[in-house]
Amino acid sequence: MTFVVTEPCIRCKFMDCVKACPVDCFYEGEDFLVINPDECIDCNVCVTECPVNAIYQDKDLLPEQREFIEINRRLSQMWPRATAPSTPLPEREQWRGVPNKRQFLQMHEPADP
Ligand code: SF4
Ligand code: F3S
Repeated sequence: MTFVVTEPCIRCKFMDCVKACPVDCFYEGEDFLVINPDECIDCNVCVTECPVNAIYQDKDLLPEQREFIEINRRLSQMWPRATAPSTPLPEREQWRGVPNKRQFLQMHEPADP
């Protein structure tokens, strides 16, 4: 089993989860975070840290959120590891609670520096 970051994180990226994770298994894109399922130790610590309740155990996901299991696996192999202290998105309050954010998820590799 693993924990999975889901749709409410898109365009919010509060980053409180990163500080809480004992094994640093979050990976960071421009406007979303994911968990590497092979590194997550299922400790549950990050779940209550997320202000928008974006993190769930894979077995508890609703059918419409189950695609995020594969999204977390795939993007965690493309994106760089997130490390604390991290900077949350400035527009996070504006996007908090907005439905149907899946369409905004950008799944490309990070831009060259
Ligand atoms: Fe990290 Fe634990 Fe959350 Fe997995 S469940 S991402 S190990 S804090
Ligand atoms: Fe995203 Fe919540 Fe972490 S918004 S960055 S999963 S604290």
